[in-house]
Amino acid sequence: MATTIPAQAALDRAATALAAGELVAIPTETVYGLAADATSGEAVARIFEAKGRPRFNPLIAHVDGFAMAERIGRFDPLSRRLAERFWPGPLTLVLPLVPGSPVHPLVTAGLDTVAIRMPRGFASGLIARLGRPLAAPSANSSGKVSCTTAEAVEADLGQRIGLIVDGGATPVGLESTILKVEAGRPVLLRPGGVTVEEIEDFLGVRVARSSGGAIQAPGMLASHYAPAAPVRLDVEEVRDGEALLAFGAIRAAHADRAPAILNLSETGDLREAAANLFSHLQALDRANARAIAVEPVPRHGLGEAINDRLARAAAPRDKPLAEN
Ligand code: TXA
Ligand code: MG
Repeated sequence: MATTIPAQAALDRAATALAAGELVAIPTETVYGLAADATSGEAVARIFEAKGRPRFNPLIAHVDGFAMAERIGRFDPLSRRLAERFWPGPLTLVLPLVPGSPVHPLVTAGLDTVAIRMPRGFASGLIARLGRPLAAPSANSSGKVSCTTAEAVEADLGQRIGLIVDGGATPVGLESTILKVEAGRPVLLRPGGVTVEEIEDFLGVRVARSSGGAIQAPGMLASHYAPAAPVRLDVEEVRDGEALLAFGAIRAAHADRAPAILNLSETGDLREAAANLFSHLQALDRANARAIAVEPVPRHGLGEAINDRLARAAAPRDKPLAEN
């Protein structure tokens, strides 16, 4: 069982736990979020572990104000107007990622865009106290509905997390609206707490629905996760000119040939490997090797998501991968 404490008394304890890389379930105005320090890859990896998510979907970075938001995402004029009107509140904006942003690449799943939202209430005070953005998907295990009470979070995730902050039932009760401005036009990626009508009334322009009306899943395109260099998986030997992405004690033959070697986790820890995955692929890509050879990574636990991302990185570049 997790420890549940009332929001009025939780600020210090929650901030301390988050600063230590732990997960805390927190109330927001939409649904309960499963929060982690968005600047720590290992903390963010714990989110995927606790939710049992088979894939690293990109997460929303929650901020306490514009100063923090601007260090993470680049605002176009329309997005800025929307933020000024609807923040704090249930609107998430997808923006180009600022180079050198403090948000760990695991939050954006390696994309060059980032989803940002400024929540209301306890979450906002907590982010201010921590002084860092929080990554927080809805606090529910994968495939289950979002939780709107602390009791529901306890029932679903109580065995897997240490701390739940009880702020009562969440006022909005469904997730934030996700919107992205594309070529100057607002596009709805997910309907949510702010209605399209409110947005259209405010802007005086129509909001386009992303094709098919389904949530745009960035993970569907293999190329989104692909480094420039070709990727070769489950290697047993390193070929001439290949950089090596190792896992655990290095087993690949001819590793000494590799112009660059990075290890996802020398101790074979999948959480550490998940935290390192995108940044290591990016770093090896910068080594300008002929290809990136990847040692086998176990498929259990977080290994399933790691292998899913590696398969996308190695897939033919022009083909979308089916989401399944
Ligand atoms: O109300 C909410 O938004 C709640 C509370 C906790 O803030 N959070 C939430 O997070 O619903 P989650 O992880 O369950 O949903 C986030 C959605 C996912 O569908 C993800 O694909 C999308 O945001 N997303 C995140 N980053 C994106 C990006 N760069 N481009 C497009 N979609 C993105
Ligand atoms: Mg969710």
